[in-house]
Amino acid sequence: MKPEFRAYDQPDFTHQDLDDRGPQQNVLLTTPDFFDVIDVKNVYMEGSVIDRKLARRQWQQLRDTYEELYKRGLIRGLFVEPGAEGLEDMVFCCNPIYSWVVDGVRCVVLSHMRYPSRQREVEYHRVFCERQGFKIIELEGSGLFEGGGDAIPHPYKRLIWGGYGHRSDRFMYDEIALKLKTPVICLELVSPYFYHLDTCFSPLDDDTVLICPEAFSEAGLNVIHQMFKTVYNIPKEDVKSTFSLNFDAVFNESGTEKAAVIQKSESVVIDILKKEGYEVIQIETGEYMKSGGSVFCMKTVMD
Ligand code: ARG
Repeated sequence: MKPEFRAYDQPDFTHQDLDDRGPQQNVLLTTPDFFDVIDVKNVYMEGSVIDRKLARRQWQQLRDTYEELYKRGLIRGLFVEPGAEGLEDMVFCCNPIYSWVVDGVRCVVLSHMRYPSRQREVEYHRVFCERQGFKIIELEGSGLFEGGGDAIPHPYKRLIWGGYGHRSDRFMYDEIALKLKTPVICLELVSPYFYHLDTCFSPLDDDTVLICPEAFSEAGLNVIHQMFKTVYNIPKEDVKSTFSLNFDAVFNESGTEKAAVIQKSESVVIDILKKEGYEVIQIETGEYMKSGGSVFCMKTVMD
């Protein structure tokens, strides 16, 4: 059955019913000029003190990695936007916006950030995205939505997985589905360690996903198993100590080459990615993990 453009808790469709989606084209990074930990917004931030010089070096390694991926054709474009003074979390640029193609037009949804200290980030991104020619979509709902942290595209398909419970509200996904002309499957997040969907859910292809089961409700786990043939369960300790599910997977245009950028560790996720045919590129994001994020949240994928 062809899905409707609404939020589902229990999908009544399968992969075959979904429209195809082309690979996303560009990666946006935001410089960490003013990165710091000030107010505590998640459990990882408690008591964190940032070494700003080290943070700068780690971010530079992230940038060099993406420059290299660009040269090798594993991403199609790379934008770098300057971080703004007073916005210490702006380096986590996957949260304030969400990019999607609607009727052939490249659009960007503006997020409704939970914490006041992050709300001004959205305006900077709006100006930047307008200049790049994106159509801006504003949400009318009064609830929360934290962009690419909670809205994860299903690989190659017009389907979005929407996490809710900490930083995004379930009811916002009906409006998002309608405006993006794409069904959304909602997943409730139940653990404070996995406060954004990108900390605990990484789909690789139509059949395969890596998750941390403790992050989800019983109902959510059932839906994940319904939609994916292979579900890799990664232990909680592994995921929370290394942000191992916050990797970024990239592909060349023809799909013959794939790579994953991930925090350096001994995680089982690294072995799984290798087994699944990924070139694994390990980098150090330790200073950013103290703020509750790693590779996936330090970039936004844009169409
Ligand atoms: N300190 C940031 C916050 O709490 C980290 C955001 C990480 N982003 C993510 N998509 N997981 O908002």
